[in-house]
Amino acid sequence: MERVVSGIRPTGNLHLGNYMGALRNFVKMQHEHDCFFFIADYHSLTTHPNPTDLHGNVKDALVEYLAAGLDPEKATLYIQSDVPETAELYLLLNMNAYLGELERVTSFKDKIRQQPDNINAGLLTYPVLMAADIIIHKAAKVPVGKDQEQHLEMTRTFARRFNRIYGVEYFPEPEAFNFGQELIRIPGLDGGGKMSKSDNPGSAIFLADEPEVIRKKIMRAVTDEGPKTLNQPKPQAIQNLFDLMQVVSEPDTIAHFDAAFNNCTIRYGDLKKQLAEDMIRFTAPILERIRELRSNDTYLRKVVHTGRDKAVTSARQTIREVREIIGFRGF
Ligand code: ADP
Ligand code: TRP
Repeated sequence: MERVVSGIRPTGNLHLGNYMGALRNFVKMQHEHDCFFFIADYHSLTTHPNPTDLHGNVKDALVEYLAAGLDPEKATLYIQSDVPETAELYLLLNMNAYLGELERVTSFKDKIRQQPDNINAGLLTYPVLMAADIIIHKAAKVPVGKDQEQHLEMTRTFARRFNRIYGVEYFPEPEAFNFGQELIRIPGLDGGGKMSKSDNPGSAIFLADEPEVIRKKIMRAVTDEGPKTLNQPKPQAIQNLFDLMQVVSEPDTIAHFDAAFNNCTIRYGDLKKQLAEDMIRFTAPILERIRELRSNDTYLRKVVHTGRDKAVTSARQTIREVREIIGFRGF
């Protein structure tokens, strides 16, 4: 069975983009692979959360992982900081990670722009920690959305470099994975690119959003004055709404609004009402389970402890072998 590793940073509730790009694939993969899924709380420190928020965000993420259908009996579910072996591998990999290549990473360049007063070393070495997360379990596949492609490329670079420096074939080179399909990017409601909680929270539909909130957000989504000529290409903001319908609506519904757009009779208010109801139907079962799990601390504790034990066992073995390869040998 192939090893699979993936994680999501706990920086607030998970949204439809996180679900479609990552979480949904975690759920599908747990049946066929040996999966390790974690909550990347070390990574979230790059934005300096306060301790209460950090703990709350980790709990929300855990609840949402489980509500989306992750089964702790099938996959290993753990919290990154429960496996400090990850931090040791990160330290070791950092010795062979170069400033030039780290500075060129797109997500780092974006962060410099977003948080100019907090350009910390953790941001710069973010891809090194991510590589440590993945190769500490010698993963072959990593289910992530399109925005993580470059980080995966870096992971392969660090794994290959370690193998080359020490003349071993120790770490496999992992690949981003989406069941043979193109990696996914779910658009937001603000007319722009991707749905994102860190870039623009207003653009996101969260799995934990109540129906009323979903209706309000979708009714406020960016549109324009409507098509003026037959069969014109769809402007980005409108295409985004159609892309969201692709996820949650029936093919007939999409065909109906597509035809209405092409013959210029479309009313965006109607499209939004339909999209909101379809979105509510799509997220309802997850929301239901979120409500149940939130108050079940005993169960959550059991899940986290079991996951920690399994993840630590796997990580310790890697660290033992890596130390030996590097030359930290006992006397
Ligand atoms: P955000 O951009 O909201 O901060 P993260 O960067 O924490 O989201 O992403 C967590 C996971 O969800 C990653 O695997 C990422 O690829 C996926 N993901 C995030 N946003 C989207 C999106 N809009 N479409 C597809 N996948 C996404
Ligand atoms: N960088 C990922 C994100 O922002 C989160 C992450 C951290 C991750 N470590 C990972 C994803 C290891 C996959 C594998 O979404």
